[in-house]
Amino acid sequence: MGKILITGATGNLGSRTLDLLLKKVPSNQVAVLVRDPESEKIERFVKEGVEAHRGDYFDYNSLLRAFDGVEKVMLISAVAFTDRNTQHFNVIAAAKQAGVKQVIFTSIIRKENSNLILPEVTMSDLFAEQTLKASGLDYTILRNPPYLEAMNSFSGDALKFGGVRVPEGSGKVAAASLDDLAAANVAVLTQNGHENNTYHLSGSEASSFADIAEAISEISEENITYATISENDYLEVMGRPAVTNDFLLGWVRAINSGEFSETSGDLERLIGRKPMTYKEFFKKQISLSKVED
Ligand SMILES: NC(=O)c1ccc[n+]([C@@H]2O[C@H](COP(=O)([O-])OP(=O)(O)OC[C@H]3O[C@@H](n4cnc5c(N)ncnc54)[C@H](OP(=O)(O)O)[C@@H]3O)[C@@H](O)[C@H]2O)c1
Repeated sequence: MGKILITGATGNLGSRTLDLLLKKVPSNQVAVLVRDPESEKIERFVKEGVEAHRGDYFDYNSLLRAFDGVEKVMLISAVAFTDRNTQHFNVIAAAKQAGVKQVIFTSIIRKENSNLILPEVTMSDLFAEQTLKASGLDYTILRNPPYLEAMNSFSGDALKFGGVRVPEGSGKVAAASLDDLAAANVAVLTQNGHENNTYHLSGSEASSFADIAEAISEISEENITYATISENDYLEVMGRPAVTNDFLLGWVRAINSGEFSETSGDLERLIGRKPMTYKEFFKKQISLSKVED
């Protein structure tokens, strides 16, 4: 097998993917693209023998150099509030020019034929999917749901607020943990037969914001209530920079309307076990926070 290169390897999903990959593949077959190869976030992996290439999605030549001799590129999608189209296009075009065989891309999950537009996310992810499919490269598209780890950023820290206060809606979300999504990345990177496929990596169980409040209440043995508030009040409670208002409301509206509620079974099939449920996730999170106190 040729080299595997992971982008975004200093981030939440990329670093977990790299960690798991190194349990399956010798480190001299693994490379990463990082903006700062001296970063302490990558130091441990470099010591293990992983090749770190300095590169930036915006710097086409740096991508070409990094992809030389690489068979598979794991493209962790670019961050929101940046020019994602240019970045994804550069990676795909450079992979093609450098002779890479397969690009694996983490996209956003949506319902079949969905009209959902999430600011900063859906249009650029769809553009990347289409660019990849048109490139002639082997592709695997891994449509990711909201991360379980991201749920607090939509509902607020329920234990701190004493409740879940969100705009009205009873839709559910089949969120998945970063560890399980990273394991799916590794399955695709290390197995044959995933070429030219699109997978819907939903968690195994969906929950509404009311379900989450109930679960946190049960687990923490505190009275965590669920209440609906207006979108304006919600934005005020969350206290984020105004520029992210549409982004945040877009996610919460999509969750509340059930956009991410379907459970496809793809994640479980890829990782060969049941993905972590939201109850298991909050149990772990609450017990960890007790240890830290
Ligand atoms: N499904 C969800 O709930 C959810 C939530 C959040 C994000 N996402 C999406 O999933 C992606 C991965 O999430 P994450 O939590 O792992 O993100 P993250 O922790 O912010 O990691 C982003 C990674 O991208 C790298 N990066 C940023 N700009 C770059 C550039 N111009 N060139 C090369 N590398 C660059 C960063 O490197 P540095 O160390 O150099 O900054 C970092 O390694 C995000 O980028 C976003 O598209 C999904």
